[in-house]
Amino acid sequence: MQILGIETSCDDTGAAVYDTDAGLKSHSLASQVELHALYGGVVPELAARDHVKLLMPLVQKVLQEAEVPKGGIEGVAYTAGPGLSGALLVGAALGRSLAWAWDVPALGVHHMEGHLLAPMLEENPPDFPFVALLVSGGHTLLVDVKDIGRYQLLGSTLDDAVGEAFDKTAKLLGLGYPGGPAIAQAAHNGNPGRWRFPRPMTDRPGLDFSFSGLKTFVRNTVSSVELDEKTIADVACAFQDAAVDTLVIKCRRALEQVGRRRLIVAGGVGANLLLRERLRVMTAECGKEVFYPRFEFCTDNGAMIAYAGCRRLAAGERQGLDFSVRPRWSLADLAPFSAAAA
Ligand code: KG4
Ligand code: ZN
Repeated sequence: MQILGIETSCDDTGAAVYDTDAGLKSHSLASQVELHALYGGVVPELAARDHVKLLMPLVQKVLQEAEVPKGGIEGVAYTAGPGLSGALLVGAALGRSLAWAWDVPALGVHHMEGHLLAPMLEENPPDFPFVALLVSGGHTLLVDVKDIGRYQLLGSTLDDAVGEAFDKTAKLLGLGYPGGPAIAQAAHNGNPGRWRFPRPMTDRPGLDFSFSGLKTFVRNTVSSVELDEKTIADVACAFQDAAVDTLVIKCRRALEQVGRRRLIVAGGVGANLLLRERLRVMTAECGKEVFYPRFEFCTDNGAMIAYAGCRRLAAGERQGLDFSVRPRWSLADLAPFSAAAA
């Protein structure tokens, strides 16, 4: 089965063609980072307008690159949520309409299920079950993944997502948007010994996160010093250290709590090299393994939507013509997947 996947939940326009037999055949991404960088964050209305402009040419490009003949697409998967409603509607409307025009089934995919399954696109995909750490600009989740569609939420953030904390800290330091890569780069020259920031909620049992206190800590630190280049690097370093440490501590706890051997990391913050290094050390220490999607599939992309959609479409799931989007959509509310129907 050959599927077209479309991703437009936030500020990246993604499209891909995935084939059940041949695997990923093509994928492409048009980033809006420069557009939103002018405003220091994503402007939802502008994101939606840009998706309208970028999506059709991107779809054409991936179809050409995959050398899909006329009538070769057998299903269309688009991100139906969670995300920005206007942005989601662009991908959903185009995806559902293309499926109608081609007379093939369509399906709305959960964006976070896409992230969760992104490591399955790699050469050595992890076996189920595994624990997944999903860390992006909008989410910080620990999930026990028993199989495709069998997810148990272990912990989530009570306030800011970790990517959001990176973005807000970067803003406080006058660094660029998106904040994650900017913080990581600045931290490179920082002195790790100058400050030790708190590791929120690690001193009590449980797998939930809270990052707003860490952000306040950064704000108070920044207001008490003169913000020269050296200090910016030191704050970035202390912040990254604390955020990464917090994630690693909770991952270790989650693996032990549910007795899993494998950890997968997905979402934009999964591109962070310090996080990767510390998780490598932690998992090696406890005889466990960690898996990542390739860098470009850590952040939003069409390939993960094509893959997740393909699995569900192959299992017989369908979206009728009365489609809608779900800007708020908990992973816990996702319909279970019936592998038996695949
Ligand atoms: O998954 P994603 O592309 O979009 C969604 O939020 O769904 O994640 C974007 C987030 C942003 O907050 C960005 O600052 C963060 O991922 N990020 C990073 C790095 N690269 C991207 N955070 C830390 N270190 C990075 N290298
Ligand atoms: Zn995402």
